Amino acid sequence: MMPVISLNQVEKRYVSGSVITEVLKGVTFSVLPGELVSIMGPSGAGKSTLLYILGCLAYPSAGQYKLDGVDVGTLPDVALSRLRNEKLGFVFQSFHLIPQYTALENVLLPTVYSKGSRKEKKQLTDRAKELLDLVGLSERYHYLPGELSGGQRQRVAIARALMNNPEVILADEPTGNLDSRQSVEIVALLRELNERGRTIILVTHDPEVGRQARRLITIRDGVIQSDEPCS
Ligand SMILES: Nc1ncnc2c1ncn2[C@@H]1O[C@H](COP(=O)(O)OP(=O)(O)OP(=O)(O)O)[C@@H](O)[C@H]1O
Ligand SMILES: [Mg+2]
Repeated sequence: MMPVISLNQVEKRYVSGSVITEVLKGVTFSVLPGELVSIMGPSGAGKSTLLYILGCLAYPSAGQYKLDGVDVGTLPDVALSRLRNEKLGFVFQSFHLIPQYTALENVLLPTVYSKGSRKEKKQLTDRAKELLDLVGLSERYHYLPGELSGGQRQRVAIARALMNNPEVILADEPTGNLDSRQSVEIVALLRELNERGRTIILVTHDPEVGRQARRLITIRDGVIQSDEPCS
C-alpha cells in the first residue's frame, strides 16, 4: 500500500531578525491510508509545527513531504490550497468556529467558494445536515456556537472537517478544551471515523487520548523519539 503521508528528513526553522529557531530537525515517517496515529511530546517540541506542515499550511525548510505521492514542496500556493481542500480536514483545539454563524453554516464553510446551482447548494446543505446528524447534533442545526457546550462545538468542528470528504483528518489537541466525559465522546467519534476508513493524525497532551490510537509517535525537541504501535 502506498503511504498517504510521507515525510523524509523534514526540517523547519523560523527566522526572526538574527534569531533562528530550529523547530523540526529531520523528521522522517510515513502513514498508510486508514491509520490512526497520535503524536505526543512536551510543550514546544514542534507538534503543532509538524501538523501545520502535514496540513500544507507551512512548507518544510528542508526535506521532503509527499501527500498522496505529490511532493508538496514543489507545488505553487494555489495548487497547494487546492490539494489541502481536497485531501485534508482540520480540527483545532480552539474550534475556530465563527460565532455569528449557526452550527449548520459553520459546517458549510469549506464550501463557500463552490459556485453552484440552487440544487447543488441544497445538496451541500443536506450533506452538512447529515454530518451534524453523524456527530450527534441533529437537534442543533440552528444553534450558534455560544449556545453549544464545548464538546458540541468540537463536534461541529469535526463535522466541518468532514464536509469536503477528506482522506486525512488532522487534529491538534481536539480534546484540549473539553472535560473528561466530552473527551471520551470526541475520541470515540474519531475512532469511529477511523473505522470507516479515514486516516487520522491527532496531537494530544492527554495520555488517555494518546493510547486510544493504534500508533503513537513521540516527539521531543524537534526529533522523533519513538514510533510504536499502541497496545
Ligand atoms: N511562527 C513562529 N516563529 C518563531 N518560532 C516559532 C513559530 N511557531 C512556533 N515557533 C517555535 O517553535 C517551537 C515549537 O512550537 P510548536 O507550536 O510546534 O510546539 P508544540 O509542540 O505544538 O507545543 P504545545 O504542546 O505547547 O502546543 C516553539 O519553541 C515555538 O516558540
Ligand atoms: Mg501545539
